[in-house]
Amino acid sequence: MLSGNSKKMILGSIVLLLVGISLAAETPSEQEYVNQLIIHVDQGKDVIAPEIYGHFAEHLGRCIYEGFWVGQDSSIPNVRGIRKDVVQALRELNIPVLRWPGGCFADEYHWKEGIGPRDQRPSMVNTHWGMVTETNAFGTHEFLDLCQQFGCEAYIAGNVGSGTVEEMQDWVEYMTFNGDSEMANLRRANGRDEPWQVKYFGVGNENWGCGGNMTAEYYADLYNRFQTYVRTYSGNKILKVACGPGSVNYHWIKVIMQRCRDRMDAISLHHYVRGTGNWTEKGSATQFDEKEWFALMKNTLFIYELLQKNIEIMDRYDPRKRVNLFVDEWGTWWDAEPGTNPAFLYQQNTLRDAVSAGIFLNAFNEHCYRVKMANIAQTNNVLQAMILTKGEKMIVTPTYHVFEMYKVHQGATYLPSDLNCNMYRYDSQELPTLVCSASKDKAGKIHLSICNINPKAPAELVCEVRGATVKSVTGRVLTASKMNTHNTFDKPDAVKPTALDGIKLQDGKILATLPSKSIAVLTIE
Ligand code: AHR
Repeated sequence: MLSGNSKKMILGSIVLLLVGISLAAETPSEQEYVNQLIIHVDQGKDVIAPEIYGHFAEHLGRCIYEGFWVGQDSSIPNVRGIRKDVVQALRELNIPVLRWPGGCFADEYHWKEGIGPRDQRPSMVNTHWGMVTETNAFGTHEFLDLCQQFGCEAYIAGNVGSGTVEEMQDWVEYMTFNGDSEMANLRRANGRDEPWQVKYFGVGNENWGCGGNMTAEYYADLYNRFQTYVRTYSGNKILKVACGPGSVNYHWIKVIMQRCRDRMDAISLHHYVRGTGNWTEKGSATQFDEKEWFALMKNTLFIYELLQKNIEIMDRYDPRKRVNLFVDEWGTWWDAEPGTNPAFLYQQNTLRDAVSAGIFLNAFNEHCYRVKMANIAQTNNVLQAMILTKGEKMIVTPTYHVFEMYKVHQGATYLPSDLNCNMYRYDSQELPTLVCSASKDKAGKIHLSICNINPKAPAELVCEVRGATVKSVTGRVLTASKMNTHNTFDKPDAVKPTALDGIKLQDGKILATLPSKSIAVLTIE
């Protein structure tokens, strides 16, 4: 059965089609109605995996170097070379899992170059991201130290594109074997006696593109071969992730599911969104008009259809839903900030990015029966980052605040809902104004996260909570005066959450006004 937003998305697509083809159609009524939501507390059954709120850090631009790694001798306060301010800010998000070392970088990374004394590690050329020198100062030990500082699970992406089976097997043995072996002893010689727990291992990344330009059929064979040697050592149950499609590539997921499903725990999906339809002019992160705002919202809402279609294919080959879907790269992708190296993918982050993130996360929550992990790209200074740094300075982005507000959903039970909302119209097209999801946490609190994607008008909401008696409601909201408001090093708090005032309880129903272009999270007790 389709739930609230999925039904709305399908309805939205039909409306878009009709509006598009019917030039003679009547102008839709401009009258706005109160938006109605029913949350079904008694129908909750699936848990929202905390890993849906996961992150991704690649050796790309200033994500790892400067973003995390400053070195022990830096004047920037650090713990064993990893900067304290960034870790502290990200810990506030309860980061459940971190994916590393790429991305495209993963398929040219040779992990043995990143262990041992740092001054003896060979350097390499980072051919994907600007042909810059990679010093290998940040390697396996540093990454797993970072995960321990976060208290999160490690998700490592192995090298299929330019690596060997032996190299991949050795890496897993190096990290996780407790016994007497060449790799385990090498780890000990490098200062780490105890093996680490590594929960997730990706067998390649985007192998249809930067990870080797393979066909699905060829990768399927390679996947089956490589994964054979990704072993569970010393009780470290490692979950294997096959490379899945990038956005729409239903042939890829079909072939991989058909040929590899019994040998994987999850398959990945990547989906990036822009305000234009092409990769050469993706648009500015900060200079845009309502046309581009609308385009991004439309492209973001496509995630509902994309998840649905990929899940339908997975269901065909895995009806018992043993294999999980990991959306292990997602987010907005704009032209790099003027004056920065375009290969470093450094972009600003506005309220528009925050609303897009809110939609994505609501969609993942709604599909939590199959989507068990998602990793926004990327943590620091790259693409839709949580954190931007400038030397010793650090700011958090509007997207960071969405993750902080939504963290209440981690590990909670997803609650189905029915939404009947107005449409947001632009030009001759329209989209649903509201996009939401709800959950109930272990303490019994209900949380509703709701995005008003209309940049021009607030939305009146009436919410019925079926199956529970509402005693109190509080809310927080993220909004700003302009669509492109963003935080800068001079104005770090231009976008930050505030209390959502004016929420009322009337006859057991919740009445709230959601400001235009906003993301709100309501706590219902
Ligand atoms: O996140 C940036 C890049 O986007 C990743 O390296 C790659 O996997 C994707 O194409």
